[in-house]
Amino acid sequence: MQGPRDCMNSVQTFRQRSYACSIAHQKRASRLIPGAAHTYAKGDDQFPENMCPVIVRGEGSHVWDLDGNEFIEFGSGVRSVTIGHACQPICDAAYQAMIRGVNFTRPSEIELQAAERVLSVVKHAEMIKFGKNGSDATTAAVKLARAYTGRDMVAICQDHPFFSVDDWFMGSTGMTSGIPESTRQLTVKFKYNDLESVQTLLSQYPGQIACFILEAETLVPPPVDYLHRLKSLVNQHGALLVLDEIVTGFRWHIGGAQAFYDFTPDLSTFGKAMANGFSVSALCGRREVMRLAGLEHKDRERCFALSLTHGAETHALAACVKTIDIYEQQDICGILARQGEKLQKGLREVIEDLQIGEYFNIVGRPWLTFFVTLDQKKERSQPFRTLFLQEIMKRGIIAPSFVVSAAHSDADIQQTVEAVAESLVVYQKALDDGVEKYLEGRSVQPVFRKFN
Ligand SMILES: Cc1ncc(COP(=O)(O)O)c(C=O)c1O
Repeated sequence: MQGPRDCMNSVQTFRQRSYACSIAHQKRASRLIPGAAHTYAKGDDQFPENMCPVIVRGEGSHVWDLDGNEFIEFGSGVRSVTIGHACQPICDAAYQAMIRGVNFTRPSEIELQAAERVLSVVKHAEMIKFGKNGSDATTAAVKLARAYTGRDMVAICQDHPFFSVDDWFMGSTGMTSGIPESTRQLTVKFKYNDLESVQTLLSQYPGQIACFILEAETLVPPPVDYLHRLKSLVNQHGALLVLDEIVTGFRWHIGGAQAFYDFTPDLSTFGKAMANGFSVSALCGRREVMRLAGLEHKDRERCFALSLTHGAETHALAACVKTIDIYEQQDICGILARQGEKLQKGLREVIEDLQIGEYFNIVGRPWLTFFVTLDQKKERSQPFRTLFLQEIMKRGIIAPSFVVSAAHSDADIQQTVEAVAESLVVYQKALDDGVEKYLEGRSVQPVFRKFN
C-alpha cells in the first residue's frame, strides 16, 4: 500500500528510511506547540533521536509518515484504536451523524442510544455520563465520590501508572509544577494486591478518604476476590471504590475488567477503545451515587460532576455505538486475545532462543503486552529501551508497547517477531560492548520527570 507523499520511499528496507520531512516538521511544530505534540506519550523525547515520524495516515495496523515510511504500529492511538485505523463502518457511522449536525442547544437522540448501548455491555453499572477523555471521567468520579461522601481525600493505587491529567493525580507524580501543595496533600497512595496498605490508610485518615481508585489489573492479575474484598473494606469505612477501566474496558472483556472478574464497583470510568479512537469517555456507576449529578434529587446538594461543551458530540457517540456493534459481531476481544497470544508466543521463542530473558522480556496479558528493557545490571534502562526502539523502527515496527489491535494480521505478527529477533541480536551485542556503541542518538526519557 502506498503512502500519501511524493517524497516517500517505496522500498521499506531499514537502510533506506529517511526522517527528513518529519524532522523539519517537528522543528516548525515545536515553535508553535509546546512539546510539538498534544500527548506527552507521543512526544519526540519518547522516541529515538531523529527517528520521530510524523504520521499522515493509518489503515488497519499500518501507518505512513511524512517521509513515506510505512510501519506496523502497536499501541495505536495511545491504546485507543483496538479495531484498526480508519475502520470504514465506524467512519461511515461518524460521518452520517456529522452531516446531520454535531452539537445542538439540547441533547440529541444519539445520547440515549449510546447510553443504552454502553450499559447493555457494561452490565454492572446503572447510569452513565459521557465525556471526551479518560481524565474527564476519572476526575468526575473523584468529584462525585467527594460529593457523595462529603470527604476530601483520595487514595490512588501507587502501582498503576496514570489516572488523570488533573491535579488530584498529577500532584502525586514527579511533575508537580503548577499544582498547589494543598491539593497534593489530599491524595494518598495504597499498594495493589495489599489490603493491609488500604487498612493502614483507613486507620491513618479515619472518615477522610472519599474514594479508592485503581485499575483491576495492569501487569499482574489480582488474586481471586481481591477486588471484592477491597470494595467491601473501603465501603465499610464509608469510602467508594472507583474502578478505572480506561485501559481494561473493551479489552479484558467488552464490559471491562468488571465483567471479566464479575465485580461491581461503585463507580467506573471508560475511555480509549470505546469508540475506536474517536473521543468518547464515560463515567458509570451506581444510581445512588450517579444521581447526584442529575436534576431530580432534592435531598442532597447538586454536584457539577461532568458538563462539557463537546461532551456528547453526535459523530463520536455514533462511532461508539458502531464500535460496540463490531465488538459484538466480530468478537473483537477474542481476536485481541488470539493475536496477542500469537505475538507473545513468537516473542517468547525469540527471547528463549537468544537466552536474553534476563535483560529483555515481555509482560502483561496477550491483549496488553509490554516489553521491559534491562541493562547489564538488570536494572530498567532508558538507553536500552532506546536501542530496542531504534532497531525495531529500522525494521518497520513502531512499538512503544506491543499492544495489538484486531487489525494485526498473522503476517504483521510474523514480521514483528522477525524484526524483534534481529533487533535483539544488536541488543545482545550492546550488553557485551556497551549500549553507547550502538545508540545513534540521545536516550528516550521518562514522561513524568521534573526537568527536561
Ligand atoms: C488507566 C488510565 N486512566 C486514565 C487515563 C487518562 O485518559 P485520557 O488520556 O484519555 O485523559 C489514562 C490515559 O492513558 C489511563 O491509562
